[in-house]
Amino acid sequence: MSRKRSLWKFGFTMLLLAIIIIAAGGSVETARSAQVDPAYIALTWSDDPKTTQAITWQTTDPALDQIQYILAGVGNDFSVTGKTIPAEREYIPDNGDTMAVYSARLTGLKPGTRYSYRIGNGETWSEVHFFKTAAENVTQFKFLVFGDSQSTAYDTWHKTLQRAYQAHPEAAFFTNVGDLVDVGQNVKEWQDWFAASQGVIDTIPAMPLTGNHEMYTPVWKVNAPPALFTAQFQLPRNGPEGLKEQVYSFDYGNVHFVMLDSQEREEKQFIPDMLDKQREWLEQDLARTDKPWKLVFLHRPPYHSKSATSNDRIREAFVPLLDKYHADMVFSGHEHVYARTYPLSAGSIASQGTVYITTGRSGTKYYNQAEANGWDEVFYNPIDQPNYLTVQVNGDTLAVKAWRQDGELIDEWHVDKSDPVRLGMAAN
Ligand SMILES: [Fe+2]
Repeated sequence: MSRKRSLWKFGFTMLLLAIIIIAAGGSVETARSAQVDPAYIALTWSDDPKTTQAITWQTTDPALDQIQYILAGVGNDFSVTGKTIPAEREYIPDNGDTMAVYSARLTGLKPGTRYSYRIGNGETWSEVHFFKTAAENVTQFKFLVFGDSQSTAYDTWHKTLQRAYQAHPEAAFFTNVGDLVDVGQNVKEWQDWFAASQGVIDTIPAMPLTGNHEMYTPVWKVNAPPALFTAQFQLPRNGPEGLKEQVYSFDYGNVHFVMLDSQEREEKQFIPDMLDKQREWLEQDLARTDKPWKLVFLHRPPYHSKSATSNDRIREAFVPLLDKYHADMVFSGHEHVYARTYPLSAGSIASQGTVYITTGRSGTKYYNQAEANGWDEVFYNPIDQPNYLTVQVNGDTLAVKAWRQDGELIDEWHVDKSDPVRLGMAAN
């Protein structure tokens, strides 16, 4: 090959490389830099999903304390128009060790807009990641719901989460209804959980809630607050005093989301009035919202399956308010089964009642002995493989589907507010 032809070929290859990098939303400057590798990146919302984005990460290099972001798109270059903000650092004691969690809150973002971001020290940066803010007045969106992921190893959670996101890449965010890990006060378990979640949680936010296992120490004592949970997930701090980030609410589009704490059994020694506090807060929160859809999440189900322990105090504390303010659906976990009640009001079947869903399991743990209770319209025990839910909001309609990890449909139903007779009816 002649020297001239070789130069042409080299130049063409470089041009092609630059086009590929720019088209991917990155920059030539990024590609040239030596990269750093922050671990366990996680997106959440601590404020309005339309204009803010919270991001946490960890690193063994204490200098990775900055985040840089920019509108994603062709020609946008971090080094020219990227905005850089410092992160906050928090050390958390864990059996003699300490871990540092970095967190940053991006504000003043444009609704419905895709952003690129990277983490670094001002000179050296990570690879580029992306997120998208919620659009103004959105009434059509999908989110994912995962049941307990607690496991001894998190490859099963990894597979459930990754498959769910691959099958539903349009999902705006996901939630996990508590018991994310088996030993909530064990740093190593959280690191495994976050490592298994990479590829999803660095792209769409997680809005999780705590379960009883978030309270457990490595020697199976109960400890509160769940410091590792609240440090690694930057969540809205609009809950009652003493339960911030364990109890919170937020709006996405036309839906009001409420996350509660059902761990009275574990936490009452630390916060004796934790149910009263939440009831008072929940009444104000539900009275205040003008969103047409109200979805509530709490780990222990108010309506349990027959083989599980009843949660009478949880039911007595919250159900009267859920009835009074017409919560559309309540999602729970804890029992590792999928169950959907008939629409219920004051414990009786009612056409315009609240539907209670026990989500199932996304990790390894299942119970062989489990069966439907009288209020269950559908019951499924995911023994052979884990499962997850998708919730599709479409204006007046909210459709829930339960999927096995391999993508086979378990259950499908919807609520249509424009057709009150059909409220809570199965899809077919
Ligand atoms: Fe649990």
